[in-house]
Amino acid sequence: MSDDNQITLTINDQKVVVDKGTSIIEAAKQSGIEVPHFCYHKRLSTPANCRMCLVEIKGAPKAMPSCYTMVGQDMEVYTNSELAQNSQKGVMELMLINHPLDCPICDQAGECDLQDMAVSYGSDRTHFKEEKRAVPDKNLGPLIRTVMTRCIHCTRCIRFATEVAGVPEMCATGRGENMQVGTYVEKALESELSGNMIDLCPVGALCSKPYAFTARPWELEHTDSVDVMDGIGSNIRIFHRGGKVMRIDPVECEDINEEWISDTARFSYDGLNRSRLTTPLRRKGKSLEACGWPQAFDAIKKAAGKASKPDAIAGLAGDMFSAEDLYSFNAFMKTTLKTDNVDARTDGSTMTGKHRCKYVFNSGIKGIDKADFILIVGANPRLEAPVLNARIRKNVLSKRLQVAVVGAPCDLTYPTMHSENTAIILDQIASGEHPFAKQLEDAKNPMIIVGAAATLARKDAPQIMYRLYTIADQYRVVNKDWHGFNVLQQKPGRIAALDLAVYPEEKGKDTAGILKALADKKIELLVLYGESDIPPESLKGAKTTIFIGSHLSPYAEVADIILPAAAYTEKTALWMNTEGRAQESKKAVAPPMQAKEDWKIFRALSAEIADPLPFDTQSQLRALIVKRAPVFENLNTFVPPKWESFGLAGHILDNAFEQPVRSFYKTNEIMRASQVMTECQDLADARADVNAKQRKVG
Ligand code: SF4
Ligand code: SF4
Ligand code: FES
Repeated sequence: MSDDNQITLTINDQKVVVDKGTSIIEAAKQSGIEVPHFCYHKRLSTPANCRMCLVEIKGAPKAMPSCYTMVGQDMEVYTNSELAQNSQKGVMELMLINHPLDCPICDQAGECDLQDMAVSYGSDRTHFKEEKRAVPDKNLGPLIRTVMTRCIHCTRCIRFATEVAGVPEMCATGRGENMQVGTYVEKALESELSGNMIDLCPVGALCSKPYAFTARPWELEHTDSVDVMDGIGSNIRIFHRGGKVMRIDPVECEDINEEWISDTARFSYDGLNRSRLTTPLRRKGKSLEACGWPQAFDAIKKAAGKASKPDAIAGLAGDMFSAEDLYSFNAFMKTTLKTDNVDARTDGSTMTGKHRCKYVFNSGIKGIDKADFILIVGANPRLEAPVLNARIRKNVLSKRLQVAVVGAPCDLTYPTMHSENTAIILDQIASGEHPFAKQLEDAKNPMIIVGAAATLARKDAPQIMYRLYTIADQYRVVNKDWHGFNVLQQKPGRIAALDLAVYPEEKGKDTAGILKALADKKIELLVLYGESDIPPESLKGAKTTIFIGSHLSPYAEVADIILPAAAYTEKTALWMNTEGRAQESKKAVAPPMQAKEDWKIFRALSAEIADPLPFDTQSQLRALIVKRAPVFENLNTFVPPKWESFGLAGHILDNAFEQPVRSFYKTNEIMRASQVMTECQDLADARADVNAKQRKVG
């Protein structure tokens, strides 16, 4: 017996029990029966315009679209009856009337829905002898290549742009034979998620421009991994050939990225092959010359030996590093070089790893689906985590989630209530004077999202955090059933650095102290691990500066010795996303030429200078990481931390929150090296200029 919310029906004489409101196509899928389809997609609205999913329903006068027809009690559905098969064959024939015979030169070939379905459900005959129509291609910018003659008018791209990305720029113009899909006015798409349309397009009408004609799918190997272009850790598949990354696609992960990835995650991979450090370098006069690892190590050993005291040594780490990278760097600085002048908080934040609840996304990304009011403080989720922003948008549209923003003006692609941009508003909310206070109070599951980039580096960050703690406590943002206090970390290495205490633990200098000591010429050996937000001019002053990283960076101008390290696609490593969820990236390709995985560099260097660090293998290193921070033990598991008080009472400054992202396509060294990202940024800058001029004229 099925309960009230369930429906029993038969599909191809097989008994199926599904929830009420399920479409026939989904019911069939749940029972392992495939129904051919083009326009239907489970995350988009259902227009039922391709008619490929026609099925026979006993008693119905004609074949029905299974994507649009809901299941009914005791319904008898046939997906493979004569009527269903003839209907599918007829639709396929119509679909191919105008379709070009492009397969041999089509980038979609080998992974094309139309190709597959034509073989499985099509006929080897056609009634049509007329000329095929041709449609001019559209210029959608540097990321998407169009061949619009191949378009089958499924409208998935239009629905994605309108419903998910929140940028209603795609449309269908004309009718019947003259219908064309494109932008209203030909222009590059203004979305951070536009690449997902390539995955959604069931044919080769929308293809990846950077990937065009570079490889065939059957030539590629693939490795499932984790994206590090922002802090959410989207699941990705890296396609590679001959040691080179050729393409990056999303992998479905309901809890984190659903099935979307940002354009930076998808298209910045050309930066992995440009401006790479491939061999150790040593300064000779004004230039840097290639040398071997032994020579570079020898020079570092001499510089370390010459340092007069541990306090004259310092190390700064960037924010693109995994747990293995950060742990070995920290151990190298603190154990081998015996200095506590170490900091990975190069944005100037003074937050420590105490009270994890103050620096992670406590509700989990999926928690957004339960929230009914979100207060965003000093964050721009559209630019800091576009996929997370799409989830907020989904809930704004489907559940009328309300969103209020205290921070720099921004267009988040959904309606928001903006307050004046000053941190003082938080005082007014805490005291109940501001209208946002009432909304927090009235909400069942209120949520706060605090942008780490614009908030935690402020001078008054401890006071702001205290105020946010008070607000969270007062308005039941955290209660026994709900944990709605969230910090949005923009960078993939920030949380691991706090969990593993990559900051001074005794009396060492933090970032500000190290920069001051450098200016005062008190640092003799400076180790720069990766790029950070600190400008190279502020890093001058040490007798010897070592730079370790994957890309040739502006820091090369201050470095005396440079060691080449691996990029994220070249190492198996643990990454902590903004939720505080540990995930493992997999090595897809080897580091280029003489470059090495980071932890191996620190291990080898420690043995050269003093006693080797206490690990010979990655599993030994992982055991030490787990000992230091047990949260790394359970991969892919989201465990909300305990709610504890944090922050410092006191006045907050009457300052505006800064824009957390200035150049979306240029936020790390891989993107900065990428030609594709440079084109995108140039376009975005040009667009911003035009908008600014128009505002002036207006
Ligand atoms: Fe062939 Fe598919 Fe390309 Fe059409 S879209 S030309 S069917 S591979
Ligand atoms: Fe569908 Fe692709 Fe045409 Fe868009 S371009 S309507 S996704 S076939
Ligand atoms: Fe059902 Fe297109 S998939 S009509």
